Amino acid sequence: MVDKISVIGAGMVGGTTMQRLAEKELAKTVVVVDIVEGLPQGKALDEMEAAPIEGFDTEIIGTNDYKDIENSDIVIITSGMPRKPGMSRDDLLEKNVKIMKDVTEQVAKYSPNAIIIVVANPLDAMVYTAKKIGGFPDQKIMGQAGCLDSTRFARFIAWEAKCSVKAVQAMTLGGHGDDMVPLTSYSTVRGVPITKIFDKETIDRLVERTRKGGGEIVSLLKTGSAFFATASAVVQMVEAIVKDSHDILPCAVKTQGKYGLDPDLFVGLPAKLGKNGVEEVVELELTEEELNALKASAEHVRQLCNRIEELKLL
Ligand code: 2OP
Repeated sequence: MVDKISVIGAGMVGGTTMQRLAEKELAKTVVVVDIVEGLPQGKALDEMEAAPIEGFDTEIIGTNDYKDIENSDIVIITSGMPRKPGMSRDDLLEKNVKIMKDVTEQVAKYSPNAIIIVVANPLDAMVYTAKKIGGFPDQKIMGQAGCLDSTRFARFIAWEAKCSVKAVQAMTLGGHGDDMVPLTSYSTVRGVPITKIFDKETIDRLVERTRKGGGEIVSLLKTGSAFFATASAVVQMVEAIVKDSHDILPCAVKTQGKYGLDPDLFVGLPAKLGKNGVEEVVELELTEEELNALKASAEHVRQLCNRIEELKLL
C-alpha cells in the first residue's frame, strides 16, 4: 500500500477507479478531484459509507482543490470528454489536449515526483501532451489503454472457447485506436496460443471486435464511453506499481526506439511495471505482419502528435 493516490476527474472512469482503488486498499488515502462542485465530495462520501460493508479502511477525499493532491505517489488523469456515437477517439484531440494541458500543469505543480497514468482520449497523444507539459521522467509517465484492449480480447476469447476467463491471457499492442494490434501468438488459453485453437476466420472476428470494442460500448451507452473495464485496467497497472510486482502489461510508454519505432513516441508496448514505474520496455519477437501493423499504428499516433504541434495546441 502507498500513502496517496490521486484521481483527477470524478466522472464515470474517475469515480469507478476511485472505488476499485479503495476497495483493494492500494493506498492509505485516495483523493478524487473535479472542477464540478459537490461531485467528487459526493462520490467520495458515498463510497466511504460503503466501507463498513466492503471492509476497507482507505480514506477517500473528494475535493475541488488541486492542493489536496500534494505529494501523491501516483496520479491518474481521467479528465477529458468522452466520445459520442459516430465519433472516433481522434475527434476529441483539440478539446482534450486543452483539458490535459490545464490538468497537467496542476499535477506538475503539486506532485512533480508522482507516477502519472493518463486515461483520456486520443490516449497516446494525451500521454505525449502530459509529458510535454509536465516534463515527468520517462519512467514515471504512461498511459492506460493496452490493459483495457487486452481484457476485452481475453473476454471474447473466453466466450469463444467457452472457458473461464481465468484460463486466458491476451496481449494487445499499438495505439489505442481501431488499428491497435491484438497479438494472436501471445494470446493463449492455458498457455496454448489461440492460433492453435481457432481457425483464421474466428480469430479475425475476435480481433475485429477487440479493435472496435470501445465503439461498441459507446454505441450502446450513447451518452458516454466504457468505464467498468477501463477502471479495472487502470487499477491493474496501479497494483503492479504499488506491489512492485514486475508484471508485464501493455501500456502507452516511451518507445525508447524499441521495435524500430520513433524513440520520442508514446505507444502501447509491453512494459515491466514496478515501484518506480516503467522498469523495462520488453521487446517481444513479433511476426512480420504484427510488426508492420505495430509500425502503422505508431505512425498514426505520430500524425496525431504532429497535429498537436501544427495547431500549436500546447
Ligand atoms: C474505450 O476504448 C474509452 O477509449 C476507451 O472504451
